[in-house]
Amino acid sequence: MTGHDASGHLHVSAESKAPYAADVLAQLRIDAAAVVARYPVKRSALLPLLHLVQSVDGYVTGRGIEFCAEVLDLTTAEVSGVATFYTQYKRHPNGDYTIGVCTNTLCAIMGGDAIWDAVSEHLGVGHDETTADGKITLERVECNAACDYAPVVMANWEFFDNQTPESTIRLADDLRAGKDVRPTRGADKVCTFKEVSRVLAGFHDGRADEGPAAGPASLLGLKIAQERGWIAPVAPASVAPAPAAEPAATKGASK
Ligand code: FES
Repeated sequence: MTGHDASGHLHVSAESKAPYAADVLAQLRIDAAAVVARYPVKRSALLPLLHLVQSVDGYVTGRGIEFCAEVLDLTTAEVSGVATFYTQYKRHPNGDYTIGVCTNTLCAIMGGDAIWDAVSEHLGVGHDETTADGKITLERVECNAACDYAPVVMANWEFFDNQTPESTIRLADDLRAGKDVRPTRGADKVCTFKEVSRVLAGFHDGRADEGPAAGPASLLGLKIAQERGWIAPVAPASVAPAPAAEPAATKGASK
């Protein structure tokens, strides 16, 4: 297992450093080359490459860190520093589905705390813990950026709006049972953590245009503005932002 000591330093198990099988490594190199080719500066590909590692291993393994470092000419310390900064990068084996319960201010007072208590008790796990069957990792989430549908729950980053303790327990049970589960908005079904990680690495699964994106609650302000003919004031030229210039330092750089 991978874990942390009291200082927060990442410890990577020997098991997670075991080399990739030859065929897995060959495909990883092909995919990594496609990712790196998208960027003028090689090291800029680190975030998607970490998602690519998660799409294969289910979390950021020791061998995954070494793979990213080798491909991008970085040190393993530099890769670990990034992998331990963002919460989307998992430091121990993740469940097939991450259920994120928003307990930030608005969701909390609209029922998010009650959802958290009920689901945590039902699953028998706390924050960043995974059920024994390896199906569900439970997380507290700090604002899903969907406050107009509070309380909101996410499953592998798909929205489940206006939730209750009962509906979220049903969501968890359906995912554990292997049923196809349809989010309130977005893709037509919740994909597995590894599948979603591959999409986040930049390999599209064809689901980007499925389902509604912005729902009625998000569009209400726009609707009212259109009905009343409101438009945003034009900024005076003196405060208008200057057009962005291409950073000279990145031109022609190879890493
Ligand atoms: S506070 Fe829960 S989505 Fe923003």
